This record gives sequence, structure tokens and C-alpha cells, in this order.
Amino acid sequence: MIGMPNDVEVIALTPEDRSWLAARATELWGGEIVISRGVAHDVAKLPGFIARIDGRRAGVATYRLTDDACELVTIDAFQRRAGVGTALIAAVEAVAGDRRLWLITTNDNLDAMRFYQRRGYVLTAAYPGAIEASRRLKPQIPRVGNYGIPIRDELEFVRAK
Ligand SMILES: CC(C)(COP(=O)(O)OP(=O)(O)OC[C@H]1O[C@@H](n2cnc3c(N)ncnc32)[C@H](O)[C@@H]1OP(=O)(O)O)[C@@H](O)C(=O)NCCC(=O)NCCS
Repeated sequence: MIGMPNDVEVIALTPEDRSWLAARATELWGGEIVISRGVAHDVAKLPGFIARIDGRRAGVATYRLTDDACELVTIDAFQRRAGVGTALIAAVEAVAGDRRLWLITTNDNLDAMRFYQRRGYVLTAAYPGAIEASRRLKPQIPRVGNYGIPIRDELEFVRAK
């Protein structure tokens, strides 16, 4: 129907998706490793979901599960404002169940901060200057991020109960 949002299909990452992700890692995350709280995650090996619109890959999310927590490690919509991010985060929320669902973003990522807060996530911690330590593990983290803002701090958001 004209004017209706596209149908977003979300499924767990297949081995094919993983090879594709590994090939796109530099473009998406500046490399195969993503750092949060000083931990290096090998993203293409994490569990995750791929979103498709009309059969085409439109986004990806990865997460890390422990007994009582679930970290949303990455979430990327290749086509923005089409419901992809919402569908992906809903899939991770379902996997997380009652676990504490948390994520790290950076101080320059105003679009992500908006997105998470609109979906009931709350700021629970700020780690000023934490990106300096991340850069020692991943020197390719840029100095300047979205909106020309210097990337310095890690911000933790948690899904509100
Ligand atoms: C954060 C991110 C994943 C959000 O993804 P997204 O797919 O754009 O999110 P959605 O489309 O689901 O929602 C965004 C807005 O678009 C609107 N929208 C969704 N479908 C729409 C449609 N068909 N037409 C118009 N608007 C639509 C939603 O209502 C939403 O607005 P709201 O937040 O006020 O409810 C995306 O901005 C992104 O990939 N950023 C770059 C990577 C990144 O920084 N990731 C986070 C790392 S911490």
C-alpha cells in the first residue's frame, strides 16, 4: 500500500551473512574488532540478526549474552528511517528476555542517543575519555565523529524495566 512502511524481515545471521559481514567490517566498524568497556569484540563471530527489505540486506545487529546480561554490541541500518533499527532492536530484546540489556555508544552519536531514548533506554553511566584506551586497542577509531564532534567518551544505556 502506498505510504506504508516497508516490510522488514529479521532473521538470525546465517554463515553466508557472516562472510558478508566480515567483508564489510571495515566499512561498517572500521575493522572486524569493536571495542566497548575495554573489551575487543570480534563482531563477525558474535550472534546477531540481519534485517532484509525486499530480500536485500538492510541492517545488522550483534549481541553478547551472559547469564544475567545482554550487550547490544552493534546495530546498523543501511537504510535509515525505514524501521530497520526498530526491528533489529526488537529481535535482540526478545533474545535478552529478562536479562539486563545494555549498550555502549559514544558522545558524538546523537542519532543513536535519540533512537535508544525514544525506545525506553536510559543513560546509566558515562565514561569520560574512555575512547583514548579504546584507541590503544584499535588505532583506526577516528578522532572526529558525527556532526564534527570529537569522539572521547563512552555512554552506557540500559533498557528501562
Ligand atoms: C541508530 C540506527 C541503528 C537507527 O536505525 P533506523 O533504522 O534509522 O531506525 P528506525 O527507522 O527504526 O527508527 C528511526 C525513526 O525513523 C522513523 N521511521 C521508521 N520507519 C519509517 C518510515 N517508513 N517512514 C518514515 N519514518 C520512519 C521511526 O518512527 C523512528 O522515529 P522515532 O525514533 O521518533 O520513533 C541508525 O541511525 C544507524 O544505523 N546509525 C549508524 C550506526 C550506529 O551509530 N549505530 C549505533 C551504534 S551505538
